[in-house]
Amino acid sequence: RYLNSDFKRLRRYAYTDIPEPNFDEYRRKSLKDAETSSKRSADERRAQRSIVSFVGCVAGLYSFKAHLLHYVLFMSPSRDVLAEAQLEVKLNGIPEGKVLIVKWRGKPVFIYHRPQSIIEQERAVNVSELRDPETDDDRAKRSEWLVVLGVCTHLGCIPIPNAGIIRGGFFCPCHGSHFDAAGRIRKGPASTNLEIPEYTFVNDDSIVIG
Ligand code: FES
Repeated sequence: RYLNSDFKRLRRYAYTDIPEPNFDEYRRKSLKDAETSSKRSADERRAQRSIVSFVGCVAGLYSFKAHLLHYVLFMSPSRDVLAEAQLEVKLNGIPEGKVLIVKWRGKPVFIYHRPQSIIEQERAVNVSELRDPETDDDRAKRSEWLVVLGVCTHLGCIPIPNAGIIRGGFFCPCHGSHFDAAGRIRKGPASTNLEIPEYTFVNDDSIVIG
């Protein structure tokens, strides 16, 4: 049992003048550290996300490139197709008045070495009377050579060279179309002239079709 005076005495020995420790500074520091580390970790996460998405983009671009190359290579013509796309034909073996038939892209092409008399006959035609009006010069790059597709413009049969009602012309036996020596439709059901393929003269003795 203590008396009031005893408490007072005891209090004197209790070092009540010692200030209580203040941890605010440390608390703030640790709080600051926590904030800083959380900010750093957010930055790190963002950086990680950026790296991941960058790697994803690069991988995506590579796969797109591979995909594209596949189609580009797929669409590119092979050597066989390129070889077939163009055909060089020597002209010096074709006698005057004769027609050489070559196969180009799966179709017959007539190469007709026309004599001067035939050229004059075709030049004398009144173009305004033709069903598909074209002059002889429109049809032949060099007058002595006529190059046309041997495919009837009616329904696709192969006409016969040097046959029909026009001298030196072409006759389609399927339904009776007559083409003249410039390949122009003159009689029968076909409505247009024989088609002229793309061709160029490499020199006086050879052409390249296609
Ligand atoms: S296919 Fe030639 S006339 Fe019909």
